[in-house]
Amino acid sequence: MDILVVGGGGREHAIIKKLKENPQAGTIYALPGNGGIAQDAVCVPEIGAKDLDRIVDFARSHSIGFAVVAPDDPLALGCVDRLHEAGVPCFGPDAKAARIEASKVFAKNLMKRYGIPTARYEVFDDSAKALAYLKTASFPIVIKADGLALGKGVLIPQNLPEAEAAVKSIMEDKAFGDSGSEIVIEECLTGPEVSVLAFTDGRSIAPMVSSMDHKRAGDGDTGPNTGGMGTVAPNPCYTPDVAAECIEKIFLPTLAAMRAEGCPFKGCLYFGLMLTPDGPKVIEYNCRFGDPETQVVLPLLKTDLLTVMQAVENETLGELTVEWHGGSAACVILASGGYPGSCEKGKEITIPQDLPVTVYHAGDKLAEDGKLVTSGGRVLGVTAVGGTLHDALKEAYAAAERIGFEGKYMRHDIGQRALRALEG
Ligand code: AMP
Ligand code: GLY
Repeated sequence: MDILVVGGGGREHAIIKKLKENPQAGTIYALPGNGGIAQDAVCVPEIGAKDLDRIVDFARSHSIGFAVVAPDDPLALGCVDRLHEAGVPCFGPDAKAARIEASKVFAKNLMKRYGIPTARYEVFDDSAKALAYLKTASFPIVIKADGLALGKGVLIPQNLPEAEAAVKSIMEDKAFGDSGSEIVIEECLTGPEVSVLAFTDGRSIAPMVSSMDHKRAGDGDTGPNTGGMGTVAPNPCYTPDVAAECIEKIFLPTLAAMRAEGCPFKGCLYFGLMLTPDGPKVIEYNCRFGDPETQVVLPLLKTDLLTVMQAVENETLGELTVEWHGGSAACVILASGGYPGSCEKGKEITIPQDLPVTVYHAGDKLAEDGKLVTSGGRVLGVTAVGGTLHDALKEAYAAAERIGFEGKYMRHDIGQRALRALEG
């Protein structure tokens, strides 16, 4: 059976490598894919992830037996709806269910209506009202643009002048485009953050191994927010007791809420959680696999991924036991110098053949002479699996040091917080 994967980053590479383990998987196509994914799949660089007409035409003309839509944009645009209309079975939520990520106002109102723990909040579509509200607020406070904003739509001003500037930049200067027509202003929560990705067919849920992202660019969680500079799994803060509480108070109520709203969620639902002194609360939902969470979570999946994804599509997930390997995984992102700002591209990448890790390719391409060169901010994700987190980190960093390209940048403290939590 031939398979199509929409997307072209490290997350998609991790999905493709795992799908390939199924002997029934025929040719895997990546639309658009990237330079490194081309070693594992047939990439079609001319078809972008948001090019729905061409994605559907491609699926039809290539008799695709199963499709996986990984990034948020095509999901929010209705790529799964379109593929289903064309008779292609696929993994991912339809556009109505993808609103759980694509509209923060939808997600916050859903949580309020169904009693799912989250930060207290107000919604504004008028900057004068938002500015008046801020005068009564306490700081720090969290301001979020309603729509998709490449993970940059969240600001945490420390005082009133900063907050006023944030509202003006989002609502009046449209710093995040139309995604800032409405904003959410919410209470600033504290506590360790945990990412939990979960397979769900709308009724049953199979939470994956928990993980921890490192969103800030610099060591010690300093510098600007990025798409993620590294991840570890499992997250030691997510104990069995916390997991049981999350399933009861957050995961199952979220599925029931989506069903009650007439938009059952099928696919990978990402719970961004904060373990506050008052219990776990939802910081955000994503309607997709996390990047780079997927690069540490899927290597620990024991059950065949294609089988799980088909069970989600067929709504038979409840009949399947999804199993996980023990041990830990760590992923260190190698970025281009300057990331998350503008960075130089086109630098040749050298990767030794004998690395005892998996290298997931995110931002690279094959140059005309066939050499692999950088083409984006996050270039590679180096994932190691080990018996302990310490072992996994040691191996990931040893390999990361041996990979070369001009301007290579990485954080040197991925996993340190998790190690401290394990010791504490
Ligand atoms: P997001 O883009 O929604 O993942 O948010 C980016 C980051 O902002 C999160 O990973 C949190 O660290 C932080 N954040 C978002 N909402 C809150 C909140 N209500 N309280 C504290 N931190 C938050
Ligand atoms: N790593 C965070 C995300 O995928 O949203």
